[in-house]
Amino acid sequence: MTTSFPNKRMRRLRAKDALRSLVAEHALSVDDLIYPVFVLPGENAREAVPSMPNVERLSLDLLLLEMENWVALGIRTFALFPVTPMALKTDCAKEAFNPEGLTQTALSAIKEKYPEVMLMSDVALDPFTSHGQDGLIDADGYVVNDETVEVLVKQALSHAEAGADIVAPSDMMDGRIGRIREALESKGYVNTCIMAYSAKYASSYYGPFRDAVGSAANIKGGNKKTYQMDPANSNEALHEIALDIEEGADMVMVKPGMPYLDIVRRCKDEFNVPTFAYQVSGEYAMHQAAFANGWLKEDEVVLESLLAFKRAGADGILTYFAPKAAELLNKSY
Ligand code: PBG
Repeated sequence: MTTSFPNKRMRRLRAKDALRSLVAEHALSVDDLIYPVFVLPGENAREAVPSMPNVERLSLDLLLLEMENWVALGIRTFALFPVTPMALKTDCAKEAFNPEGLTQTALSAIKEKYPEVMLMSDVALDPFTSHGQDGLIDADGYVVNDETVEVLVKQALSHAEAGADIVAPSDMMDGRIGRIREALESKGYVNTCIMAYSAKYASSYYGPFRDAVGSAANIKGGNKKTYQMDPANSNEALHEIALDIEEGADMVMVKPGMPYLDIVRRCKDEFNVPTFAYQVSGEYAMHQAAFANGWLKEDEVVLESLLAFKRAGADGILTYFAPKAAELLNKSY
């Protein structure tokens, strides 16, 4: 048989670096990276996030300066997450659609300085609700769907008006993609993309992010299980994704990332649409902890962890490792 040893030696194609590259099935590129950044109110403010080493929350003036380095590394898409002072958080989350709010201000300021950069905005109410949930709540603390969607539509429109290229609803309310798409169309924002956080799980890997945006301490009810997905489910993710595509999503996302690569693969196989994955804060934190302890080698592991997303079928990855990965990728080419 020609296919058996020694005619077939699987190691033959692994013998040289150039040969390994030649037959590589997948590749990670800087173009695949989306960098999530945290924006602080005020000026000249820079704060570390203790559970996310090397991630800083920056006021807009400093963010505009830092961005120059990231853009020089080749990063072209950024996801903005605002840090909202407690005083601006209300039960009705009205700061979410304030045209002068931090997200809206940041969107237009960044667009002005870096017109070629793509900006993605988070559509969800958790930074703006006094109770920390992603939507409005009733007397029992239940997140009410349809009323929340009304506010999300206003929020998404205010982001589009401020210059967002991509609005990214991360709230998991039913029907929000359709309503947002309808509103964008009716206001003439026909080229504003929607990246739907379609399969977003009620995950405990979001902990460090909630520290970073300051929504952790106050999550009323303690979790988001009545709207985010049960980690036990996989078929349900495909139903969510199908609905979001049907309602007008241009791109879909699976979140968290590495523990949910099976969902990324199923999504890509089933729908063949632009598919993204979010390597979330907890994934970043656990990698950083291992690097800090000398238990894992940072450079190799960062690239391996991101390549895994490509192999699973992701077209792009939201990752806090974006600048690090870009540096490494620029070096190796
Ligand atoms: C909130 C939102 C969350 C993340 C992105 N948008 C947290 C949550 O749902 O509680 C998590 C990102 C991360 O952990 O890195 N709508």
